Amino acid sequence: KKVVLAYSGGLDTSIILKWLQTEYGCEVVTFTADLGQGEELEPARAKAEMMGATSIHIEDLREEFVRDFVFPMFRANAIYEGLYLLGTSIARPLISKRLVEIAEAEGADAVAHGATGKGNDQVRFELAAYALNPDIKVIAPWREWDLTSRTKLIDFAEKHQIPIAKDKRGEAPFSVDANLLHTSSEGKVLEDPAEAAPDYVYQRTVSPEDAPNEPEFIEIGFEKGDAVSINGEALSPATILTKLNELGGKHGIGRLDFVENRFVGMKSRGIYETPGGTVLLEAHRGIEQITLDSGAGHLKDSLMPRYAELIYNGFWFSPEREMLQAAIDKSQEHVTGTVRLKLYKGAATCVGRWSDHSLYSEAHVTFEDDAGAYDQKDAQGFIQLNALRLKLLAARNRRLK
Ligand code: ARG
Ligand code: SIN
Repeated sequence: KKVVLAYSGGLDTSIILKWLQTEYGCEVVTFTADLGQGEELEPARAKAEMMGATSIHIEDLREEFVRDFVFPMFRANAIYEGLYLLGTSIARPLISKRLVEIAEAEGADAVAHGATGKGNDQVRFELAAYALNPDIKVIAPWREWDLTSRTKLIDFAEKHQIPIAKDKRGEAPFSVDANLLHTSSEGKVLEDPAEAAPDYVYQRTVSPEDAPNEPEFIEIGFEKGDAVSINGEALSPATILTKLNELGGKHGIGRLDFVENRFVGMKSRGIYETPGGTVLLEAHRGIEQITLDSGAGHLKDSLMPRYAELIYNGFWFSPEREMLQAAIDKSQEHVTGTVRLKLYKGAATCVGRWSDHSLYSEAHVTFEDDAGAYDQKDAQGFIQLNALRLKLLAARNRRLK
């Protein structure tokens, strides 16, 4: 039996690697992806080798992640429950896709992941895997094993000579998931939603108080809804997000302290840092303001919560997500142009936008003489017909009072 494990190189997935070998009697193939989490991947190779992994896959997926997952999602301005930019949710389907592809290439019949039985990630990993290969088997050790405490985990690691970093012996302070889009922190010191998060939780943003006292202005160029340049320089998707993370982080942009509803039914509190994504969202909305038709824009906005929920709940690879994506992508045909943003003390503000595809007509909207572009008399009939049913309602209500 052979299984492909989503392996970070950390203590928990190392224990899983060994557990799969010893308890399941499987050969374990490891897969470690660089999604921009900012960790070195070579130590994961050395560790997997030392623990006797059958084969080791390490891949830089940063461009694919941003181009095929983050950017399509940002075309929708997707936000879950009004605040969360879905940084973890959008990464899981890509990891699963590669797990399934590697399983097929390696002749493995199962994949394994390190998500617990309480969270969203297990659902996302597994729905994506089953959508791509209906016959794949999934092993989720956290739902099966009896290593239910830190002590038991450490004992298991020691028994099997798994190296344990000094700071990992005690309780981990909280659980972190990071990639190019965000860092999320959950659990432990964050579990009481009444208590403010300690400052050391924040990892990729300065606090707005400590951000520079001078604003910084940048320009982002868009083509068909995707960012393509910063300050006139054409850049790849992953490079753009990397740069926006630096800029946003420096100005304290994109921090979020949030209690959300997990798909499995419980509420959970997380601290999120999405500096580049927050800048990108403001910029994308800025360019849409002048290039999107109102009918298309309002329809798209009404679809957004549904689309965001599908991503949150793990249905990236589903016909309904693809249907919504097709509609959203169609809306972006003319979302091309440039926005100017002000970055200052925790906020990214669109202060200018221009485009050859603009629908904005100063000739129509001007407070000055419009030289016949618009006939104000037309508004009278427009209002009368829109008011007709309101007048009939008001008359009825008066009559019955
Ligand atoms: N609550 C967020 C989500 O469901 C973040 C999950 C973080 N995952 C983790 N393994 N630490 O998208
Ligand atoms: C986990 O349970 O592994 C992390 C949290 C989540 O998936 O929601």
